[in-house]
Amino acid sequence: MTRLRLAFQRSLGAKVVTSTVLLSLGVVWLTGSALNSRLSDGIRSVNLSSSIAEARLAFFNAQFQLLVSQGQSVEKRKQVMAEIVVDATTQEIKDQRREVIIVKTPTTKTSKVSYEMSSNGASSDSIPKGVRDKILKNSDLQYEYGSLKYATGNSVDSLFVGNRIDIPGGGRYEMYVVFSLADQASTFNLIQNSLLITGFALIFLIALITWLVVRQVVRPVREAASVAKQFTQGSFDLRVPITSKDELATLGHSFNDMAASIEQQISRLENLSRVQQRFVSDVSHELRTPLTTLRMASEVIFNHRTTFEAPVARSAELLVAQLDRFERLLEDLLEVSRFDAEVAVLEPVEFDLIALIKRSVHDLGVDSDEKTSGVSTKSDNSVVTVKADMRRVERIMRNLLSNALDHCDGTPIEIQIKTTESEVAVGVRDFGTGLDESSLIRVFDRFWRADPSRARVRGGTGLGLSIALEDARLHNGELDAWGRPGKGAHFVLTLPRVAGETIQSRPIKPAPEDFHEEVFYQ
Ligand SMILES: Nc1ncnc2c1ncn2[C@@H]1O[C@H](COP(=O)(O)OP(=O)(O)O)[C@@H](O)[C@H]1O
Ligand SMILES: [Mg+2]
Repeated sequence: MTRLRLAFQRSLGAKVVTSTVLLSLGVVWLTGSALNSRLSDGIRSVNLSSSIAEARLAFFNAQFQLLVSQGQSVEKRKQVMAEIVVDATTQEIKDQRREVIIVKTPTTKTSKVSYEMSSNGASSDSIPKGVRDKILKNSDLQYEYGSLKYATGNSVDSLFVGNRIDIPGGGRYEMYVVFSLADQASTFNLIQNSLLITGFALIFLIALITWLVVRQVVRPVREAASVAKQFTQGSFDLRVPITSKDELATLGHSFNDMAASIEQQISRLENLSRVQQRFVSDVSHELRTPLTTLRMASEVIFNHRTTFEAPVARSAELLVAQLDRFERLLEDLLEVSRFDAEVAVLEPVEFDLIALIKRSVHDLGVDSDEKTSGVSTKSDNSVVTVKADMRRVERIMRNLLSNALDHCDGTPIEIQIKTTESEVAVGVRDFGTGLDESSLIRVFDRFWRADPSRARVRGGTGLGLSIALEDARLHNGELDAWGRPGKGAHFVLTLPRVAGETIQSRPIKPAPEDFHEEVFYQ
């Protein structure tokens, strides 16, 4: 139901068609019911004058016969009246069925002999009260529509035409000729049904036409919307097809002009950034050769440092250290420019992640470094096989471990590995300087360091985490950071088991389990 409502709310066509149908339903209903009542009046009056004329004749005949029967016996008179009734009912014109009812007028005193009678068991109770009252007051013929009931229980819509008759020696009576309207009723039903069918057909046609018209307007709008959507997804060369010269075409032209201008701007910016990327990459490459020479020269000097005076020897050491850093920076820069140029490719192989982590810990000397009071590795499994780019995963681990070592301030470093069906997670936790909230936002930014002066001593480039994040994302993985000033930091790498597949959850949450936010009450 809610889906239907949503679809309705989203579709302009559905809205317009529904409101048109509702409005035309109102109009059709109004005109239909007016037509209906006019027609029913018309049909009823078709036979009215002939029926009245016929009834008048019957009354006249009856009164005449009764006058003639004056002075005869009651039996004879009853027989005459029966003949009157039979005469009046059998005078059939146009197959119209009729009945005759003779009832005593309320003002006539009841006497022993009753001349009341009716044909075919027609009930005198069904004579409308209105017509009886009128006959009481007027001497002329009166009529009214009503429903005639038979003794059998049937009832038929009928026209009641009545008049007074005087029965010699019997007093005043009323005689009614009742014409059945069954034929008219069936004609009327037919007309009513036709009206109903025509009404529905009309509404259906109106809905159809509205829908066609709306579609004509909505279709180009939908097309434009779909083009706009694809445009935002990067198909900058798409344009709205324009097939007319109306207002919608104007919209299309404006849209296309806008698209062309955006495409131009984007390609200009793309060019610009390509030039910049090339520049960074070229510079890095160009710097490599002189750097190699410098490195060789510095090593020669370094190897002879014992023969120099102390300050010169110190300079030689500094030179080698800074050249190391320079080399690392250049490596990182080249890697970054590869990411920017989107030429970084993944070379996934199957390997054991635990072995890789142990190797990284060992290679970095984390386990023997006096900067930390110990490294522990926690894992549910002894072997965790993943399919990923080994070189990149190793680089991520090295970055996280060396950062932890640099910032742990003598606290232990904890490595945790957790796996699920589809993903693996590695958490690297230290309890040192930590990170505050504003730093956490920027920790993956290029060249960002919380404390640049300290970094200079360590020799960090400020590119480590940004490269690690790009490496993780290349696998369709994620790298999350958590930290609190003075309480340490927690970096969590989540990778899909097979590089490129999507990760559904985070087996290790960035906020470490051992940490509970302290809440201060005042
Ligand atoms: N474990 C950590 N504890 C505290 N701060 C950290 C930690 N890891 C990274 N940082 C902060 O993030 C910054 C960026 O890290 P990174 O990109 O690896 O650059 P670098 O290590 O070369 O400085 C670091 O300079 C440091 O301020
Ligand atoms: Mg680092």
